[in-house]
Formats: sequence, C-alpha cells, structure tokens
Amino acid sequence: MTKMPLFPSVLALALIGYFGASYAAPAQNDANCTACHSNIGTLHTGSKHANLPCATCHDGTADHLKNPKTHPTVSMSPQQCSSCHPNQFETMYKVNDHRIARDSKKNLNNISPNPFFDEALGAHGFVKEHNLPRSHAYAAVDQFIADRSFGGRFQPKEGWLFSGDNGGFFGVWEKIDDTIPGNAQKPHKPGTAAAANPVCWTCKSTDVMMDWAYLGDPNTKAKWSRASNPVDLVHNINHAVNCNMCHDPHSAQPRIVRDALIQAMTRTDYPTLYSESANKTPIDVKDMGLRGF
Ligand code: HEC
Ligand code: HEC
Ligand code: HEC
Ligand code: HEC
Repeated sequence: MTKMPLFPSVLALALIGYFGASYAAPAQNDANCTACHSNIGTLHTGSKHANLPCATCHDGTADHLKNPKTHPTVSMSPQQCSSCHPNQFETMYKVNDHRIARDSKKNLNNISPNPFFDEALGAHGFVKEHNLPRSHAYAAVDQFIADRSFGGRFQPKEGWLFSGDNGGFFGVWEKIDDTIPGNAQKPHKPGTAAAANPVCWTCKSTDVMMDWAYLGDPNTKAKWSRASNPVDLVHNINHAVNCNMCHDPHSAQPRIVRDALIQAMTRTDYPTLYSESANKTPIDVKDMGLRGF
C-alpha cells in the first residue's frame, strides 16, 4: 500500500527534471549570439545543452543585442541548474554520514597523515586549525569563520546551530555576518590570525571567476586579483562548490576551472606528476577571452 504513492512521486521528479522544464528549440536570435560569441557556439552546438536557448540562463538579451555594452545577466548560482537537475542539486549539498571525508591535513587534534601538506603549506597560520573535513555545503562558510582565516570577524548569525543542519543548499551570507566595520585583514580577537588571502576562493567557489585574470595577475580590467583585499573579495562569494566548477554550462562537458590546477597540468617548464604520467587524460585549454584577460 505504501509503495504505490512513493513510486509515482519519484518518477514525477525525474520527468520534471528532464522534460517538464520549458525549453523549446533554440530561439532565432541565438544564431546572432553565437555569431559574436563563436567560442560559446562551438561548445554549445551539438552538446547535451544544444537545445537550451541562451535565454534559459541569461536575462536581458534584448538590450544586449541593441548594445553589447549592456550586459545580459550571468548567474553562478547552482539554483540555475536545479530546475532541470534536481537530483544532482539535492545530493550535491547533502552531508554523507556514511562515508567520512578523507583527512589529508593536520587538524586541531592530530598530525597530518601526510607530512608533506604541513611542509607545502609552510608557516601558514591556518595549518594550526584544520578541523575535521566536512561536506561541500560548508566549503566556503567554514573557511570564512575559521579563527585563523579572517581574525574572527565573520560570525554565524544564529550561533553554531547551523553546523547541525546536515548540509543543504544555502548562501554563505544567509548564515554569517561581518561583525567588524571596515575591511582590515588582521586579528580581531585574541588567539586569532588573518591567514586567508585573495586566492583562497579559487578552491571554494566560482562566484568571482569572471572578474579574475588567470592566476590572479593584477589587470586593470579585472575587478579582483591576488593583490585585492581578501575581506572585500569574500563578501562577493555566496556559493560553495558551484555546479559550473566541474561542468561547462554551455557544453555540459566536465572541466576544471581552478587556475593553479590548470597551470600544474599544462606547465612544461618543470616536470610534474601529471606531465610525467603515461596515463594522463588529454586536456584542451580554452581561453574564453571575452574581457581581454
Ligand atoms: C554584436 C556582437 C554580439 C552579439 C550579437 C551578442 N553579444 Fe554578448 N557580448 C558581446 C561583447 C562585445 C561582450 C563584452 C561586452 C563588453 O565589452 O563589456 C559581450 C558580453 C556578453 C556576456 C558576458 C557578460 C558579462 O558579465 O561579462 C554574455 C553572457 C553575453 N554577451 C551573452 C550574449 C547572448 C546570450 C547573446 C544573444 C542574445 C549575445 N551575447 C549576443 C558581443 C555580442
Ligand atoms: C545552462 C545555462 C546556460 C546556457 C543555456 C547558456 N549559458 Fe552562457 N553562461 C552560463 C554560465 C553559468 C556562465 C558563467 C561562466 C562559466 O561558467 O563558464 C556563462 C557565461 C557566458 C558568457 C561569458 C563567458 C566568459 O567566460 O566570459 C557568454 C558570452 C555566454 N555565457 C553566452 C552564452 C550564449 C551565447 C548562449 C547560447 C548559445 C549561452 N551563453 C547559454 C550559463 C549558460
Ligand atoms: C532548462 C533545463 C536545463 C538547465 C537549466 C540545465 N540543464 Fe543540464 N541538461 C539538460 C538536459 C535536457 C540534458 C540532457 C539530458 C540527457 O541527455 O539525458 C542536460 C545534461 C546535462 C549534463 C550531462 C551531460 C552528459 O554528458 O551526460 C550535465 C553535466 C549538465 N546538464 C549540467 C548542467 C549544469 C551545470 C547546469 C547549470 C549551469 C545545467 N545543466 C542546467 C537540461 C538543463
Ligand atoms: C566537484 C565536481 C562536481 C560538481 C561541483 C558537480 N558535479 Fe555533476 N558530475 C561530476 C562528475 C565527476 C560527474 C560524472 C559522474 C559519473 O559519471 O559517475 C557528474 C555528473 C553529473 C550529471 C550527469 C548525470 C549523472 O548523474 O551522472 C549531471 C546532470 C550533473 N553532474 C549535474 C550537476 C549539477 C546540477 C551540479 C550542481 C548542483 C553538479 N553536477 C555539481 C562532478 C561534479
């Protein structure tokens, strides 16, 4: 008796996922879009997302067609993908209680299982406070509130209760507040340090990816760089481990976007574990090149 209602509801979820959302054949003006954005056109055409009109994910296209300087919206939110991929969206931010995350670094109560991490991270303040690893949902917020990252300035809005939420999708700034005026990156409480730097976001989020030149090189056209104030920068990070960190939204193909990882996999000036490996996966680096950095 209880089986019947359960089965159709699971089925309905799958159907909404793949067929219920309204996407028609690409709108006429999409050909205009790819005439200028040919690199996007190459990724999009023939892909599993080929039938998704550009306007599925970008608003304000009519004004942009009149004047390219008026930008359409670009959203980095995983919620943009959730309407069509509800299962991946839900499981992505779930805490997996059955499988403990691999503990690779030193944490509060133990030594690093691999001493190389301590060596590689040198004297960074935060090697002293790596608490036990948690799931993707907390990747950004946990780094911001660690006492050794931002000097204790970011505090949970409702105490530590949210730690027990068991994950789920949330925006970082729904959970924490900045308790210190200004943007000085320094210890604000006894026993804290300010070891986080502007590059830290690259492992946590893609939110500021389009405003960042390769490797964070300072560039007048890019809003953020390695030299930015880390406090100002993290105020612009709201999502942890976005879908587009691993999936190209135009081709729906897997990708990497972390620039340090791209550099490690492509450098030829120095032998790396990757370049020396006989089994390496072929990679193809694409420069989207839109903003000239
Ligand atoms: C006439 C050429 C042209 C056409 C047609 C065109 N674009 Fe653009 N698009 C540009 C240029 C140039 C930029 C960079 C604007 C700038 O200089 O800041 C841009 C920027 C963008 C951006 C990036 C916004 C950002 O925040 O960086 C998106 C997204 C985009 N276009 C989507 C579209 C879509 C969708 C269409 C079709 C409806 C389209 N474009 C049609 C030339 C074009
Ligand atoms: C499934 C959602 C989705 C669809 C459909 C989509 N985009 Fe995008 N687009 C994104 C996201 C997300 C980004 C942010 C950059 C990234 O993740 O690579 C983006 C970024 C862009 C950019 C800026 C690229 C850069 O790196 O500077 C352009 C231009 C663009 N899209 C054009 C288009 C055009 C043209 C189409 C239709 C052919 C299209 N998009 C369809 C989600 C989408
Ligand atoms: C309007 C609906 C829609 C949206 C929004 C959407 N997708 Fe998809 N996506 C699809 C469809 C349809 C397929 C093809 C499913 C199939 O062929 O089984 C697909 C396939 C995929 C695949 C699988 C590719 C493969 O090789 O099997 C990935 C990964 C993916 N999408 C990621 C994303 C990401 C990331 C976003 C958000 C940036 C997103 N999608 C937004 C409809 C959507
Ligand atoms: C840390 C990297 C990573 C992130 C972040 C990520 N994915 Fe994936 N995703 C993968 C990998 C790897 C696969 C291939 C899994 C396989 O083949 O077993 C995959 C597979 C998929 C597929 C293909 C169908 C399937 O389940 O095999 C879809 C659709 C998808 N992801 C959507 C999403 C959406 C939506 C998000 C954000 C809520 C997301 N992914 C976030 C790595 C990621």
